[in-house]
Amino acid sequence: MSGRDPIHELERRTRLAFAGGGPERVRHQHEAGKLTARERLELLLDSGSFNELDRLVTHRCRDFGMDAERYPGDGVVTGFGTVDRRPVYVFAQDFTVLGGSLGEAYARKICKIMDLALKTGCPVIGLNDSGGARIQEGVMALGGYADIFLRNTLSSGVIPQISAIMGPCAGGAVYSPALTDFIFMVQRSSYMFLTGPEVIKAVTHEETTKEDLGGATTHTELSGVAHLAYPTDEACLLAIRELLSFLPSNNLEDPPTKPTADPHTRVEERLDGLVPTDPTQPYDIKEVLRLVVDDGYFFEIQPHHAPNLVIGFARLGGRAVGIVANQPLHHAGCLDIDASLKGARFVRFCDAFNLPLVTFEDVPGFLPGVTQELGGIIKHGAKLLYAYAEATVPKLTVITRKAYGGAYCVMASKHLRTDLNFAYPTAEIAVMGASGAVNILYRKELAGSEQAEAKRRQLVAAYEEKLASPYAAAEVGFIDEVIVPRFTRQRLIAGLAALANKQDRNPARKHGNLPL
Ligand code: HXC
Repeated sequence: MSGRDPIHELERRTRLAFAGGGPERVRHQHEAGKLTARERLELLLDSGSFNELDRLVTHRCRDFGMDAERYPGDGVVTGFGTVDRRPVYVFAQDFTVLGGSLGEAYARKICKIMDLALKTGCPVIGLNDSGGARIQEGVMALGGYADIFLRNTLSSGVIPQISAIMGPCAGGAVYSPALTDFIFMVQRSSYMFLTGPEVIKAVTHEETTKEDLGGATTHTELSGVAHLAYPTDEACLLAIRELLSFLPSNNLEDPPTKPTADPHTRVEERLDGLVPTDPTQPYDIKEVLRLVVDDGYFFEIQPHHAPNLVIGFARLGGRAVGIVANQPLHHAGCLDIDASLKGARFVRFCDAFNLPLVTFEDVPGFLPGVTQELGGIIKHGAKLLYAYAEATVPKLTVITRKAYGGAYCVMASKHLRTDLNFAYPTAEIAVMGASGAVNILYRKELAGSEQAEAKRRQLVAAYEEKLASPYAAAEVGFIDEVIVPRFTRQRLIAGLAALANKQDRNPARKHGNLPL
């Protein structure tokens, strides 16, 4: 018998794995305002639920002195645990070990948990904090990334995939998060870019900083690459738990329900006066949403990017729903390129994961302008249209005021298989606004008239009466019911209950050809 104590040996190896890159590097991590990989997992998962896999895996690289740089776990902590008692698979990159850089063994660890998550129908959450491809491992590192990208793609629409960026994420490494459903960032300590400021300076002579190029503000406001940003690691991880509370574990399950004390039949009289009848007067659509949904709670996604379209999750009568709403406070609620892309991706996510879509519509049309046309608003607007048209989840629409032109068709109109279309009495469903319509239809008459202004006002009033109301649409069934705003909540909840068993399908095909 050998003299070694087997338990002691396991404890020794485990201690080494828990030490990460050693106390000095852990101190650096904390000084940078960042938690370690294991501390992050503790906050993300239910207390004590984490089961680690591959804690003792090490790399097999012998080049560049790597023999001396062997750490149990190889710089990434992987495994499974629970969030609100539902199983999830996780990986957390450990920047204290070789800068969290990804090599062959490291990538295999991530692939293992991604495969398990896909087979078992559980979400995957990746906490990213890495110097990217491990330079010493060369093509083995690149291949490892590609193995992950493949799994991200195959898992898309099957299990929710969520990424947190909690440190550097550069080069091709950004493409794994980019393939996932949601990206959350931490302000000031995280960044994402393909090529950093130094390379950019050398190639294009442009001067920039990491923060300006790929910080949380840049990606949550300008580029739209990321969805939400938080001031600390802890806030970011708690927000991921919150997001998961709205999502099913996979595409075959329904989203979890959450009982509410908020009465299903609550009549909200404040809604009656909230939407101004003057079509030029703005109001905050989020006030409408808060008055309608359970407990006034709306979990907004991408609040600072394309704010002219509001998206997010809420519950109605305990059922989780995806909400899409035009925001008259920004660009008068017009749809532009950014809003179309933002909306299309969200609608497709909700459709993939059985979240009913509730649309609040007040849209004067697509944003006119040379920049928009040259930027391809035609193909980008078509994405939103396509997303709504192909969605087979329960779809409910409330037109609060304007539903003009092509935007009427796009925003979950009856013609795109929307199940229940409601309109407020203030709704105006028309090819365009009254003033524009009169200018086009009566240009010649008004030009030659002595009382042009008085006549114009008369024509505008007649147009509004005849064409810019919900009634022409209601008379032909494009609107199912014109409702008094105070009853919005009860109509939507009753509608969702009636549509709970909805079955709809698209024609058999390999996949559609979304206008990319
Ligand atoms: C190996 C790496 C590494 C890498 C960092 N380290 N990145 N080791 N491969 N890619 C090591 C460092 O040598 C250092 O080791 C430790 O990690 C911490 O790094 P520091 O530079 O001291 O930290 P910091 O000053 O905070 O800077 C972090 C950093 C920088 C900005 C991430 O390390 C950096 O620029 N790294 C290279 C990033 C990069 O270009 N990666 C390749 C991207 S392309 P010691 O022993 O000194 O502590 C890519 C392709 C993917 O990833 C392709 C997919 C298709």
